[in-house]
Amino acid sequence: MQTLAQNLTSQAVDASLSQLILTLADTSKAISQAVRHGALAGVLGATEQENVQGETQKKLDIITNEMLKDALKADGTVRGLASEEEDHVVEVSETGQYLVCFDPLDGSSNIDINSLVGTIFSVLPAPTGELSEASFLQQGRAQLAAGYVLYGPSTMLALTTGRGVQMFTLNPETNEYLLTQDAVSISKDTAEFAINMSNQRFWEAPMQTYIADLLLGKIGPREKSFNMRWIAAMVGDVHRVLSRGGLFTYPADNKDPNKPFKLRLMYEANPMALLVEQAGGKASTGYENILDIQPEQIHQRVAVILGSANEVDACLSYHGLDY
Ligand code: AHG
Ligand code: MN
Ligand code: MN
Ligand code: MN
Repeated sequence: MQTLAQNLTSQAVDASLSQLILTLADTSKAISQAVRHGALAGVLGATEQENVQGETQKKLDIITNEMLKDALKADGTVRGLASEEEDHVVEVSETGQYLVCFDPLDGSSNIDINSLVGTIFSVLPAPTGELSEASFLQQGRAQLAAGYVLYGPSTMLALTTGRGVQMFTLNPETNEYLLTQDAVSISKDTAEFAINMSNQRFWEAPMQTYIADLLLGKIGPREKSFNMRWIAAMVGDVHRVLSRGGLFTYPADNKDPNKPFKLRLMYEANPMALLVEQAGGKASTGYENILDIQPEQIHQRVAVILGSANEVDACLSYHGLDY
């Protein structure tokens, strides 16, 4: 089996980008260790701090953010970083070629129930000139690499550098990522969807109708029965979609008029959209391809509909878009 380093070489990934990816992968091994030790390492529970999103930070949100920040500062290839847990962008070095956006711990609400969590990352080219928040506001299409690490029963890394999607499994004996799935491909059709149904009454009309039709099963316009899953960690739900197809959505809702969307564009939606597209799936807000969005703020949120191409198209047709 190929190691991650061997795979990057065989794909002819640029040496400095490979180095950065290996640094992210090495940090995820340390995060995996911290997550696995759980209560034994005293890493569970919340802090009294809030992040810029207005969320109470879990201890692990802060620990993993610091681990990634330290590793990226030491790497030498990174010009700047943006994180869910950092109010502002952080300048790392004057010479680095890359900007890294990350969600250090996705699925924070799962930590204390010993359930699935992960790390999501996105690599952008660093523009020349002074570093500011504006340097990061690039379309998802500009990503040079994107991926996530899933701290599940096994630790897995899903990665794209624009040459399809590869999945690696961490060998606990050797602490090495080994290629376990190459050329990941999402089935075009599916009978599985993922949505937080408790928000149903707050969705826009197109999503209400689409989900209602799925729930009608064989007697409805879709003429088939659908199954539902919800892990409450985007990494887990997207991993399932990449593994066996499906449609994942966190749509707009009007529960809180000041916060119509939940997921963050720069370090959740964009990297996942690139992975999904590279695996033959689709990713949209309902009205626009996620990778075409011109970001306006590093912490901006968007509606997300992604997964099996034909099912995303079916959902979009309810939004008045004929794909
Ligand atoms: P994070 O833990 O990084 O703040 O992200 C949580 C996100 C995402 O992972 C998941 O899909 C969604 O929040 C779950 O939301 P609900 O709690 O509304 O189900
Ligand atoms: Mn997240
Ligand atoms: Mn997070
Ligand atoms: Mn959070």
